[in-house]
Amino acid sequence: MALPEFETFEYDVIIIGAGGAGLRAAVEAANADVSVGLICKSLLGKAHTVMAEGGIAAAMANSDERDNWKVHFADTMRGGQYMNNWRMAELHAKEAPMRVHELEAWGALFDRTTDGRIMQRNFGGHRYPRLAHVGDRTGLEMIRTLQDHSIHQQIDVHMECTITTLLKSDGRVVGAFGYERERGRFRLFKAKAVVLATGGVGRAYKITSNSWEYTADGQALAFNIGAELKDMEFLQFHPTGMVWPPSVRGILVTESVRGEGGVLLNKDKKRFMFDDIPELYKTQTADNEEEGWRYVTGDPNAKRPPELLTRDHVARCITREIREGRGSPHGGVYLDIAWIKEKLSNSDEHIRKKLPSMYHQFKQLAGIDITKEAMEVGPTTHYMMGGINVDADSQMATVPGLFAAGECAAGLHGANRLGGNSLSDLLVFGKRAGEYAAKFARDHSHGDVDNDAVQKAIEQTLIPFGNTGESPFHVQHDLQDMMQRLVGITRTEGEMQQALVELGRLDERAKSVSVTGHREYNPAWHTSVDLLNLLNISRIIATCAIERKESRGAHFREDYSQKDAEYGKFNLVVRKDESGNMIMERRPVQPMRSDLQEIIESQR
Ligand code: FUM
Repeated sequence: MALPEFETFEYDVIIIGAGGAGLRAAVEAANADVSVGLICKSLLGKAHTVMAEGGIAAAMANSDERDNWKVHFADTMRGGQYMNNWRMAELHAKEAPMRVHELEAWGALFDRTTDGRIMQRNFGGHRYPRLAHVGDRTGLEMIRTLQDHSIHQQIDVHMECTITTLLKSDGRVVGAFGYERERGRFRLFKAKAVVLATGGVGRAYKITSNSWEYTADGQALAFNIGAELKDMEFLQFHPTGMVWPPSVRGILVTESVRGEGGVLLNKDKKRFMFDDIPELYKTQTADNEEEGWRYVTGDPNAKRPPELLTRDHVARCITREIREGRGSPHGGVYLDIAWIKEKLSNSDEHIRKKLPSMYHQFKQLAGIDITKEAMEVGPTTHYMMGGINVDADSQMATVPGLFAAGECAAGLHGANRLGGNSLSDLLVFGKRAGEYAAKFARDHSHGDVDNDAVQKAIEQTLIPFGNTGESPFHVQHDLQDMMQRLVGITRTEGEMQQALVELGRLDERAKSVSVTGHREYNPAWHTSVDLLNLLNISRIIATCAIERKESRGAHFREDYSQKDAEYGKFNLVVRKDESGNMIMERRPVQPMRSDLQEIIESQR
């Protein structure tokens, strides 16, 4: 059978993904005078980054002058349970303020302090108010600014394009192959360097804050050409997603609600977060209910309320309340910001100003006025801490010429990410990935693209048109349901072994999924492509989660409910070998540089 034709494009650097990390990488590479192709699965500007609502974490010390990069570094390491790549945590804490000021210079608007500086708000696990924000629309403002800025650089944008395969030659990456989603036309992108900035994996789960694009593409593309993935057992469940009505279940309820004073209550109206304060955070948290209630927005002297403990812990406490029968009518708990009327005479106006999206989201989707009533919320799959194993400084993966930044890369966040550290991650490491990819491209010529590999990529993608099996939507639905039940917020050996068995069956079903019609405007076909990545990465998540027989950060094992010091000594690293088998390695955590170790000790 004659295979369809494809169009060929050639760039020095291609960037796959146009959220915060991809756009920032594209700007940096373009400024280094190399040719840049930016490929996005969605429309430019419709990036999942907009769902990071609460702010950009950067130690600018505008709202509390005691803050500095060292405190931010120590907070990030403690939040990640010391599984983080400490060099990435250092670079991130040092460079985040510069990246925020740069964004401001490019036109980003921020909420302001009374003396005109960028205002910073409280978030979980950050010792001081540190999140530069624009109400609860910070991610949106970031994307708007980066998009505005990038269209004035020499960047070719390929919108609505899915990459199915990375191409390798002589041990390095030489391009990518995919198709444009509207018309189904195939495209080959030759490149000297490739940056992956494709985001997360949340669409492997039924309840998620992630948008439809988050189908583990970058992680799977990298794994398939032999790059290492790291820390894949560490998946974050954000404590607060909507639980009602069912059609919007999982949509993010920003942590800013708690940052602005929102409290969590069970059905008896008890602030259950006081019931369990982890040892690591005892000194920073109000230790009795009365003090906790005293917490008011922006007061630098206020003690931290327990609702602002790290996300892993808060999500588990919520799950406990629900499981033990103290939840709200629709299977969540209550999140109450309306109570601040006891403290602020203009509380309605204040809530609408600081949380405009939340106000509209609940009003329009759930018929709730959050200035007057409590919201119902519950955990939602939010963020993958693990991902492509990269060099801290350059963001190069273990396959030369391949770079990764943002959520699809591993390292910065360790076992649990602090809220707000993702937007700063995108800026800091997006810039670095763009810079080093451009450098790599200048130092190398184009590699040879193997025509057979391209033909194979086309054939693979077209298989569902020749099948007679079920719809890919059914398989995707069952995968999401299974991962939610068996590899969720709390895990056991038995359940996860069962997940592997079910993944085997789902793999078989996926091989014979069929799609009808042709390649134009065909969502079922797109889903058949996404499904392969989701299955691939779900297996890796489950396998790594079985291997880590302890509870640490976002990874909670009911059968090993304590942290085990032995398991704190290594990260789990996986890769595909030449025969296509998955190899897993316990990679020792690198000893921390002594000056950084001293910072950690001094911040305890
Ligand atoms: O809750 C939020 O606004 C999410 C922010 C983040 O994940 O960093």
